[in-house]
Amino acid sequence: MNTGDFIEKQIQKLKSEITGKAIIALSGGIDSTVAAVLTDRAIGDRLLAVYVDTGFMRKGENERAARSFSELGLNYRIVESADEFFRELENVEDPEEKRRAIGKKFIEIFEREARKFGAGWLVQGTIAPDWIESGDSLRDRIKSHHNVGGLPERLNLRLVEPLRDLYKDEVRAVAQDLSVGFLDRQPFPGPGLAVRVIGPLTRRRVEVEREACAIVEEEIERAHSEGVLKELPWQYFSVLLPVRSVGVQGDVRAYGETVVVRAVKSKDAMTARFSDIPHSVLENISTRITNRLGSEVTRVVFDITNKPPATIEWE
Ligand code: XMP
Repeated sequence: MNTGDFIEKQIQKLKSEITGKAIIALSGGIDSTVAAVLTDRAIGDRLLAVYVDTGFMRKGENERAARSFSELGLNYRIVESADEFFRELENVEDPEEKRRAIGKKFIEIFEREARKFGAGWLVQGTIAPDWIESGDSLRDRIKSHHNVGGLPERLNLRLVEPLRDLYKDEVRAVAQDLSVGFLDRQPFPGPGLAVRVIGPLTRRRVEVEREACAIVEEEIERAHSEGVLKELPWQYFSVLLPVRSVGVQGDVRAYGETVVVRAVKSKDAMTARFSDIPHSVLENISTRITNRLGSEVTRVVFDITNKPPATIEWE
């Protein structure tokens, strides 16, 4: 594929297709960002790019996203919705129910924005593996994925999918041509940290997970840049478990929860193997997490399960 030709053709196509206002949901990931930039090049500020801050984002994610959207010159809006999400999810523990509740709330918020803006078109960053019948349908049977499906009909929006025929590596090439950065970031689930906090979703527990996850990312990336770790895992993150164990904090008894370190190698997320992380790196992670979160986390463990039989995320 010639990316220059693809970009030119898509911009022309979007120009003739979208004669009014359009809206897109930005996740901060590459697909939605590339779709937004292409559409922006075609119709400018008649496109509104909406980023919903669910309260389940990684540490620094909102700032990073805002910076890159500004740099790309997008007409974007960040909708701060953490309160709404926490209210909705307060007592939800079942993984599927959690995903459904997050998806529903997300659509509700997005719908509100679409109405306010008067959008007639919905742009989505769907790529070929998202719709082609493949192992993905198996994935969807195992976990319901978070997207804005069902929206176009409800809102009477016309659906536009400029990346529909592309595979991930092609999207990366187009992104490079469009100067969209963050090319080698690891995948992040739509429901965010909510599916990495097992048990009750309180603000404090999400905060603990956010800190732990940032430490895992920092230490693994540092080990990689220093050559201690040969290759970066496909994904590396933490999971917070509602399992308490006894520890000592100073010389006082503590009774905190458990953080799991998960790092896997994979090509397409359909199967995965746990990564071989040097013990010295695991030790740095464990020490930093317990130093930082000592009264709340008294135990750090490493997940040695492949996919299958496990999945990559815990929920
Ligand atoms: P699992 O946990 O099923 O995940 O092995 C496979 C890949 O998908 C990511 N994942 C999601 N991505 N929305 C997404 O966009 C979701 O709801 C979702 N759940 C899991 C996961 O991080 C892994 O890369």
